[in-house]
Parts: sequence; C-alpha cells; structure tokens
Amino acid sequence: MDKIEITGGVRLKGEVTISGAKNAVLPLMTATILSSGESIINNIPQLRDVMTMGKLLAHLGFGFHLENNQILLQTKKITSVDAPYDFVKTMRASVLVLGPLLARTGRARVSLPGGCAIGARPINLHIMGLEKMGARVILSEGYIEAKAKRLKGATIYFDIPTVTGTENLMMAATLADGTTLLENAACEPEVTDLANALISMGADIEGAGTSIIRINGVNRLKPLIYKVIPDRIEAATFIAAAAATQGDIKINSCKPGHIDAIVNKMTEAGVKALHKNDKFIVKGPERLSSIDIKTMPYPGFPTDMQAQFMAMMAIADSTSLITESIFENRFMHVAELRRMGADIKVEGSTATVKGVKSLKGAPVMATDLRASASLVVAGLAAKGTTVIDRVYHLDRGYEKLEEKLKMLGAKIRRVK
Ligand code: EPZ
Repeated sequence: MDKIEITGGVRLKGEVTISGAKNAVLPLMTATILSSGESIINNIPQLRDVMTMGKLLAHLGFGFHLENNQILLQTKKITSVDAPYDFVKTMRASVLVLGPLLARTGRARVSLPGGCAIGARPINLHIMGLEKMGARVILSEGYIEAKAKRLKGATIYFDIPTVTGTENLMMAATLADGTTLLENAACEPEVTDLANALISMGADIEGAGTSIIRINGVNRLKPLIYKVIPDRIEAATFIAAAAATQGDIKINSCKPGHIDAIVNKMTEAGVKALHKNDKFIVKGPERLSSIDIKTMPYPGFPTDMQAQFMAMMAIADSTSLITESIFENRFMHVAELRRMGADIKVEGSTATVKGVKSLKGAPVMATDLRASASLVVAGLAAKGTTVIDRVYHLDRGYEKLEEKLKMLGAKIRRVK
C-alpha cells in the first residue's frame, strides 16, 4: 500500500493546472449508455474511479479505450445489464448506470452500493424517482432489479437535493415518453455540465443548475463528443494548501463561478483569492483567521471541502465552528488531525476547532477521499514530517497530486 511522505513548512509558490472533474466525468461516461455509437470525452483525469467506471462499462459490453486524457466509448452493443457488487462496492458512482440502462434497454440490475466511511448514503430517492416513471423495482440479494417497457414522464420531488439522484433521473428522463419535472433538484456544476452534454446528444432539457429541471423525452440520442469541466474541489484543495502555508500560487483552468462560496469563506479567513484572466491568484496570510462554516448543497459551501477547510482552521488564530449538514459521519479526519496536535472537539454535526500555533508532523491514516486531502494540507503546514497511509483513497479523486505539489515547491514523495 503506497504512502505519502511530506516535510512541512514550505511556502507553496508557482503555478498549477487543474484536471478534469471526477464528479463530472463519471456521469458523462454513463450518459454514453443512452446512445449507440462511438463517444469521445476529452480532458479526462487519470483517476482510479475513471478506470473502475471504464471496467464497468466494458462489463456491460462496451468498448472502452483511455489514452492520454481522452476516452473512447463504443456503445453499440449491450451484452449485460448487470452492475456487480465488485464494481459498486469500490465506487458508489456505479449506481449512475441505473437510469441510463433502464432508459435504453428497459432493464437494469445494479448492486446496492452499501455504506461508505462518510455515511449510509442510501439511494432511496433514485429508486423513488424511477418508480414514479413507471419502473418496477425490486430488491433481491443486495441487488436492485428494475424493469420498464418504456419510462414515462413524471413529476419527481426530492426530499433532499441529491447530486447523483438528480443525474440518474435526468438521464433516465431523456428517453422517457413525455415530460419529467425534477423538483428540489441538485444545482451542482457537474449536474449542469451533464445536462449540457445530454443536450449536445439531442436531449431536450431546461433549468439545469436550478432546483427545477424539465426534461422532454425524445426517441433517441446521438453519441457524445465532449470536454470535462475542471475539478472545482481540486482547485479549492490547492487554495487550501496555499492558504495553510502562507503560499503564493496561480491556479489555471478553474471556472470562477464554480467556487464562489469557497472564495468568500477563504477571503473571510484572510486569504487573498482573486480571479484574473482565467487564473486564480491565491496568497495565504501569515496567520489565518478562524471563521465558521456550514456545508450546504450548491451554491453553498461544499461538503467535499469541509475536511480541507478544517485543516486550515486547525492553525488559525482563534476558534472556528464547522458544521457538516450533508453527511452523518464526515469527521473521520478529526482523529488524524488530532494526532498532529490539532485541538478539535466534535459534538453531533459540529466540530469546534481551536487554532494552534502549528501542527506537528506524524504518521496518519487516510480514511476517505477528502479526509486524505485534509491530511495533505495539514502535512504541508505542519512542522516536521507526516506520513499518510492508505493513499489509494487520494488516488480516487486527485490526479498526480504529489507531482503537482512538488512543482509548487512542496517536499513530498510517494513511498511504495
Ligand atoms: C455526490 O455524491 C458526490 N459524488 C459526492 O462527492 C458529494 O460529496 C455529494 O454528491 C454531495 O455533494 C459524485 O458526484 C460521484 P447526494 P451523492 O446524493 O450523489 C442523502 C467526493 O468526495 N441521500 O447528493 O452520493 C445522502 O445520504 C464524493 O467526491 C438520500 O438520503 O450525494 C446525503 O445525506 C463524496 N437518499 C445527501 O442526500 C438518496 O437517494 C446528499 O447526498 C440520495 C441521497
């Protein structure tokens, strides 16, 4: 199992280019199921999750080819409608084949994802929506078995804005008979990006990016030719790294509108982060100011940045309250940050972070994707050496992270 070793205390300097977004490319890959032919997706990040999704699509009978940062998907022939547990247990986003398979073939058999480190992560809202569209869904032996001659347009209200739930049902609705309304839909940029991709395939969708999305079903879609948007969470992670090391960096290819909430909170914390001709200029202060955050659905402060922000607040000048309102167990990084000298108390969904002068390097363990990013930020800021174990979590969502940080002057290396 690889480890990452960081010797902290270096002020990051220089320029970094952000890769394509993990949470955009995964639904784009499953959207190709809706068409028959060769799809091409560019600006692909080289991530474990992309490989896992490619293997799953190959399992369904598709041709999958990844070269440099481009994917070719040949989706003429479907030879299976099964998404086995082996794929789903390592990547919950496998559930995104459910809607497209049902829309294209009238059948789908997808393993229930099971929980993960950050929470139970049910998919009841995905299933509720498909049943509203006329699918018959049964659960047997840990699998969801869904059947529908042809899905029908329906009005679907989400109790909670769910990102992949919105994506799954938006994809299913593109080929349904009639109009579907998704209400209280997720507004994340990745949802809007998926809608733009589906529209380029011939889908009829309005309102993506708002909480009411209308999809008028069509009879067929053509293959996808598309470019993935930059990863807003990767960009924000680099802002956090510069913020925590009094750094001075430039971030290329990040869409400014995608991280407004993060930039606002970073500015409150004393970070200079401004967007100038397609680059983000980020300057970290001598000492960060403690501020409170509460994670919310987009356009609120994203839950995927909560752990990284906590690492910054661990060395800020007073006390910060961090409330996680999306997932029930997304404080796994707290125990590891404490090993580095952080002063953090958790009560229910709120962590009280009392800033200390500096963290101390220590051996720590990654538990989930963003927790591992938080430990990298903490390691860069800490005095001494930090060794992060189980970095396969990191490899799921960050392309060449240590190379990019090395280019910014960080003393970081991967230990096989
Ligand atoms: C997506 O997960 C992202 N993953 C997550 O990123 C991200 O943290 C999350 O959205 C929230 O922004 C991908 O896009 C592949 P949700 P998703 O459905 O869709 C509850 C990362 O680090 N819920 O929006 O699974 C759920 O329990 C990952 O890149 C139901 O109750 O999240 C949670 O409390 C982690 N029933 C809330 O909604 C459902 O049917 C939001 O979950 C669906 C969700």
